[in-house]
Amino acid sequence: MLRKLLIGTALASGLAFAAHAADVKEVQMLHWWTSGGEAAALNVLKGDLAKEGYAWKDVPVAGGGGDAAMTALKAMVAAGNYPTASQMLGYTVLDYAAAGVMGDLTETAKKEGWDKSVPAALQKFSVYEGKWVAAPVNVHSVNWLWINKAVMDKIGGTEPKTFDDFVALLDKAKAAGVIPLALGGQNWQEATMFDSVVLSTGGPEFYKKAFNDLDDASLKSDTMKKSFDNLAKLVTYVDPNFSGRDWNLATAMVIKGDALVQVMGDWAKGEFHAANKTPGTDFLCYRFPGTDGSVIYNSDMFGMFNVPDDRKAAQIALATATLSKSFQSAFNVVKGSVPARTDVPDTDFDACGKKGIADLKAANEGGTLFGSLAQGYGAPPAVANAYKDVVSKFVHGQIKTSDEAVTELVKAIDDAK
Ligand code: GAL
Repeated sequence: MLRKLLIGTALASGLAFAAHAADVKEVQMLHWWTSGGEAAALNVLKGDLAKEGYAWKDVPVAGGGGDAAMTALKAMVAAGNYPTASQMLGYTVLDYAAAGVMGDLTETAKKEGWDKSVPAALQKFSVYEGKWVAAPVNVHSVNWLWINKAVMDKIGGTEPKTFDDFVALLDKAKAAGVIPLALGGQNWQEATMFDSVVLSTGGPEFYKKAFNDLDDASLKSDTMKKSFDNLAKLVTYVDPNFSGRDWNLATAMVIKGDALVQVMGDWAKGEFHAANKTPGTDFLCYRFPGTDGSVIYNSDMFGMFNVPDDRKAAQIALATATLSKSFQSAFNVVKGSVPARTDVPDTDFDACGKKGIADLKAANEGGTLFGSLAQGYGAPPAVANAYKDVVSKFVHGQIKTSDEAVTELVKAIDDAK
């Protein structure tokens, strides 16, 4: 669908911009980094580019997980109005590349040695038919717990190692009158949490088969049903006002001590960082119980569009800055993610960041690094959207039982494929 919509505009804009002009010293960037932590991280990039004389034209589209941003991007591209770059996740990059609207950064990639420093799991999404079309900014991981340390001490809690431990911990918080689980009731947040629940319930092989290979038997299995049972259990620990809540507001509940824990990708750590909170002292980061040793990842990529010639120098400057070692460290320290290159020292990262870097390396080497289905790295956007929809209907009671949820999930994914 995207291909049909875009192909005409690709040709049109290619012709329209054949003429040469003086380079435009401006980077136009579409993104959904509007929370406090996200904006702070983006400022690192703006600052680096300003030093090189590039103005920043911000195109922010609020909405965690990026669904609204991707709708806005589609409209811009359909109108032939390409940004220099857009934040994108996984399969979306490949979709735009297949539609013929992406630029080609292969020369820059060669010069900078990206194929040696960027992990293969990311190159699968930033390189299309041999050409570099996107610059990976970071690696996020979704299977984390973010816990308020003072609340944890107050209830006498310890790190939950299994799903049952986790339920026991949530019960303790409940007994102490604290909201046990901070959740934002938006489909992408619910599905992001469910990614972890499925990994915990079924183990690494199961997660891969169900959510990366879309294996029918796994999707239909009793293990998937059990995963929905576990999700239902978690939802009983959420406060009644969770519907529609933004993810960073859920993080703020944990930061303030109104809630014990949030299950969220490590962009949540960006919020703790922005609030000057220290891991080990103010908050704790643990892997989602039963998922230690595996990493469910996503990576923010700057998809590079086939911009007019007079904007290509700015695009190359952006891509080069993004993948520089110093930026990869400075940005990811603030963002909560870890570098998209394997050769960046962990010196400047806090304890959670150091663990994130070590976990990623181990998972990558051990074959337990899996793309997040909720975050665009498990399957193409149509499938991911179908998944988010079913999980959310289940969380909000429109789908009543785990049996029904499994049937709906299989059907929705089938239709979307
Ligand atoms: C994710 C993205 C993160 C963070 C998060 C919440 O999709 O990868 O960088 O921005 O959404 O907005």
